Amino acid sequence: MTPPVLIRPARRPRLLDLCCGAGGLSMGYHLAGFDVTGVDLHPQPNYPFAFHQADALTYLTDLITTSRIREFDLVHASWPCQHFARVTAWRGSRGAHPDLLTPGRELLKATGLPWVIENVPEAPLRPDHILCGSQFGLRVRRHRLFETSWGGGGELLPPCWHPKGRNKLLAFEHKDERAYADAMGCTWMTNLEARQAVPPAYSQWIAEQFLNTDERAAA
Ligand SMILES: C[S@@+](CC[C@H](N)C(=O)[O-])C[C@H]1O[C@@H](n2cnc3c(N)ncnc32)[C@H](O)[C@@H]1O
Repeated sequence: MTPPVLIRPARRPRLLDLCCGAGGLSMGYHLAGFDVTGVDLHPQPNYPFAFHQADALTYLTDLITTSRIREFDLVHASWPCQHFARVTAWRGSRGAHPDLLTPGRELLKATGLPWVIENVPEAPLRPDHILCGSQFGLRVRRHRLFETSWGGGGELLPPCWHPKGRNKLLAFEHKDERAYADAMGCTWMTNLEARQAVPPAYSQWIAEQFLNTDERAAA
């Protein structure tokens, strides 16, 4: 019997990236085949895709209310991590940063679309995926949690690997910041922007999980 042929829509899938920064994760979705639109509270002169400067909660509420959210196929959100991050607690200023993740998750559910949230390991996310640069052959130690609306699918990735000595992975506090940004694959950003960014390899992999899940559901 001839196997069924899956027909993809003629257009590329569209991703909305909330709190996009200079576009580390946007780039991964782009590499996986998405047309990407980013939203950030602050100007992002080096962001390489369509960009809107806005508060992400307000912007998303407006898209839902006007039904323009239907222009997208997937919504990603990297709500600011300072409220949860251990490094903010060390500085004693966690309370100065609002929790956007909790109301943000409710809004993502209200979109009716599939969604992805990324944050630091300390954040209250369901750990559908915990990713590290070493799993993608990057010389970077940067753990990030991902919660997705479709849950973890048990996909195989090699375990993370943190060698010592000469082959040590580069970390956030590496003294040559340019080397760290480049090792993450964020070559178009300034060092300052890269300090906030996440390697594109992570979101390229998440996007591929989404496209595979979507394709399985269509079949
Ligand atoms: C961790 S960074 C995102 C990094 C990005 N995912 C990347 O890989 O390059 C979080 C971003 O949230 C933005 N941000 C903070 N509050 C925001 C808000 N209320 N609305 C939109 N963006 C916000 C910050 O300006 C910052 O760029």
